Amino acid sequence: MPFPTERLRRLRTSPAMRRLVAETHLDPGQFLYPMFAVHGSGVKERIGAMPGNYRWSVDLLGEEARRAARLGIAGILLFGIPAAKDEAGSEAYAQDGIAQQAVRAVKDAAPDLLVITDVCLCEYTSHGHCGVVDEGGRVLNDPTLEVLARTAVSHADAGADIVAPSDMMDGRVGAIREALDEGGFTDTAIMAYSAKYASAFYGPFREAAESAPKSGDRRGYQMDPPNWRQALREVELDIEEGADIVMVKPALPNLDIIRLVRDEFDLPLAAYNVSGEYSMVHAAGARKWIDARAVTLEILTAIKRAGADIIITYHALEAARWLRERGSQHRGGC
Ligand code: PBG
Repeated sequence: MPFPTERLRRLRTSPAMRRLVAETHLDPGQFLYPMFAVHGSGVKERIGAMPGNYRWSVDLLGEEARRAARLGIAGILLFGIPAAKDEAGSEAYAQDGIAQQAVRAVKDAAPDLLVITDVCLCEYTSHGHCGVVDEGGRVLNDPTLEVLARTAVSHADAGADIVAPSDMMDGRVGAIREALDEGGFTDTAIMAYSAKYASAFYGPFREAAESAPKSGDRRGYQMDPPNWRQALREVELDIEEGADIVMVKPALPNLDIIRLVRDEFDLPLAAYNVSGEYSMVHAAGARKWIDARAVTLEILTAIKRAGADIIITYHALEAARWLRERGSQHRGGC
């Protein structure tokens, strides 16, 4: 029965009515908050292009993690910035490396918060590539797998609940699963950066993590943005190799990929709302060109609606606060 009998505006007449029929919900229990750990003590260093985000020394990291836990955030995604880098990235798997120390500190401070670690070499190698490099500067796939597997095991040993390989080498999920199982870490889950595109949106992150490649770029291992069939193949292979959670990254330019992966596979799906996406919102918000709060919640809703279960976002804490405020408004402001 078309207009004038049918009127879709009927269900938009009040906040309560709109809430009643909302098809997508944001829950901080599905947010992951990325955090950067550095050596030293008493360090809370601003990240220039990501206002509100910091590089934390291990002694202060725990406190911020507790804040996240109190806001109902599911977990944190930890990145370590080592004091020294070398060709082979050996600090990545050092027993007392920065990431390993950070995992222990967060687990001590907030035992119920999930701790997820980034497994990659770019923060740890002097050349800044995500793998082992030969004399000609070529990133070598197979020799890298061993280092990644060893790194993942060291994170699990420190207490990580989930390890998240972000390097995009072929075969790394299988290599990591095998090494974890051999080490007795059969309960440590793998969240695979499966469809990770070579993206200019990672710029602010590379500044924060000091992980920009010194020469060349990452196009030889990260995915090429024009491709979507390849994204499905990447996800399929990671699942076959033992991934527990798969990821699409970056989120905003790839909402179509999130939807495709959601429709094709049953595994929990994460989307990474990356550094450059965060920076754009805050830069425009600071100039009052946009309402950063409204834009952020709209973006997170869109990522969820596209099909992501889990959202990794630098907005996690502020978004959790805004959602809490919105919730109390709905309940009558108490
Ligand atoms: C690699 C890694 C990167 C990000 C997460 N893990 C950067 C890259 O691939 O160069 C980017 C995250 C972001 O931009 O927020 N270890």
